[in-house]
Amino acid sequence: MNNSPFSSNVHFTHLLWDFPLENGDCIIDATCGNGHDSLWLANRLPRCKQSKLFCIDKQKIAIDSTRVRLQDNLTEECFNQIIFVNDSHETFPQICSELPIRLIVYNLGYLPGEQKSVTTTTNTSLISLQNALNLLRPGGIISVTCYIGHDEGKQETLAIKTFAKKLPKKYFTVLQSTWINRNAAPSIILIQKNI
Ligand SMILES: C[S@@+](CC[C@H](N)C(=O)[O-])C[C@H]1O[C@@H](n2cnc3c(N)ncnc32)[C@H](O)[C@@H]1O
Repeated sequence: MNNSPFSSNVHFTHLLWDFPLENGDCIIDATCGNGHDSLWLANRLPRCKQSKLFCIDKQKIAIDSTRVRLQDNLTEECFNQIIFVNDSHETFPQICSELPIRLIVYNLGYLPGEQKSVTTTTNTSLISLQNALNLLRPGGIISVTCYIGHDEGKQETLAIKTFAKKLPKKYFTVLQSTWINRNAAPSIILIQKNI
């Protein structure tokens, strides 16, 4: 049961992100946290030597944790394809606007094991998402996992769903998934820029 493809949001999002990358396609983990998602994403890079993975987190402790996880689990060549950014994801590094960005992932909320007060917030997440839309190459995807188990998360989830619903269907395809027989289940929102 625990290894089923949709037993948890982690398993399910990894399944959703498992589409073919073209060499040069770049990925942004906009909330890298402890680096579990970043490691999964980085494992796609060896087949795409020109591609880059940006790992962003506003907390230094998260960047350090991600860096150690990736260094311990990747070849040096693959590790060199990764760029760490200790900053808020409201804005993205300038270089990202010059690269074909194929996937931007957000796993919102707080760093497990750390202060719950340091969480993603409605305003900054919406600003970031707006900027992320502009960065995506045609066919590129934004994946957002949002949680309603804490007050800020409830407000954030509602605001992101409202934002995503209003995106014009001519330019974007938007999908939402959740676990309808679980309490306070996370939601996954996918936004694809139409080709
Ligand atoms: C649920 S954790 C991410 C878990 C991560 N995906 C993993 O696999 O370990 C959420 C992360 O978002 C980060 N965060 C909160 N606000 C942020 C912001 N404005 N910009 C970038 N990161 C932010 C937190 O520091 C925290 O590490």
